[in-house]
Amino acid sequence: MDSDDGRGAKREAMASFDAAADAYLDSDVHRAGEDLDALAAWSADASRALDVACGAGHTANALAEAGVQAVVAADATPKMVRTAAANFPVAGVVADAERLPFGPGTFDAVTCRVAAHHFPDPEAFVREASRVLAPGGVFAFEDVAAPEDPGLADFVNRVETLRDGSHVEAHPLSRWETWMRDAGLAVERATAGRLDLDFADWVDRTDPPAADRERLAELVRTPEAEAAYGVTVERGEVAEFANLTALVRARKPA
Ligand SMILES: C[S@@+](CC[C@H](N)C(=O)[O-])C[C@H]1O[C@@H](n2cnc3c(N)ncnc32)[C@H](O)[C@@H]1O
Repeated sequence: MDSDDGRGAKREAMASFDAAADAYLDSDVHRAGEDLDALAAWSADASRALDVACGAGHTANALAEAGVQAVVAADATPKMVRTAAANFPVAGVVADAERLPFGPGTFDAVTCRVAAHHFPDPEAFVREASRVLAPGGVFAFEDVAAPEDPGLADFVNRVETLRDGSHVEAHPLSRWETWMRDAGLAVERATAGRLDLDFADWVDRTDPPAADRERLAELVRTPEAEAAYGVTVERGEVAEFANLTALVRARKPA
């Protein structure tokens, strides 16, 4: 984090997200997935739901399709909020995940998907999610995760930062569980999963500079990559590659 409490880094990240709103709207990885289905199913009983860091709005839309009547799609990047509200039946709000502009107990469900690795203070985000939840409300969370082993976690975060300059830190599942419990939530389910990805597409999506691409191509062929990402290489090409994910359902006590 930089000396201005992460705000400079946040501004830079928002500028890159601003340019990426249309790509996120069209992205297959964001448009669908078992994680998306789980978050929507866990939140389906809510009447008021908040999706934090909504991106182009796919998770917020899944909540609306699951029957949630009032869905707020919040994101720190104004163009993402405009894209979500223009394409889906949701209300858009520009908001920082770490300082949510809603009163205590406003929502029956809070979701956040493939986004929290961009937050400089994820613990503050979890406290905010808990604060805006009504008693009995559900926090349905998914993100790219780091391995529990600290050395492999450092490796994963090095790779992710080379690929995406707006990456801050992926955390292990157990850390998310601890933060949720510390914020007064009861963890009901916590699953470490894997999301199979095409390595070349995954790198292309963020379009890193040539030198970073070369370094990524080297790093993905190391034993650490095999351990962290389940990489296999066949005839010089990366054949298998998967991101670790953390999927958690937590509840605010009634
Ligand atoms: C990969 S996209 C999210 C995808 C979306 N949740 C979905 O399911 O399709 C990541 C989003 O996080 C947002 N973001 C990053 N840092 C944020 C912060 N501190 N507060 C709110 N949104 C943030 C970015 O603007 C971007 O739209």
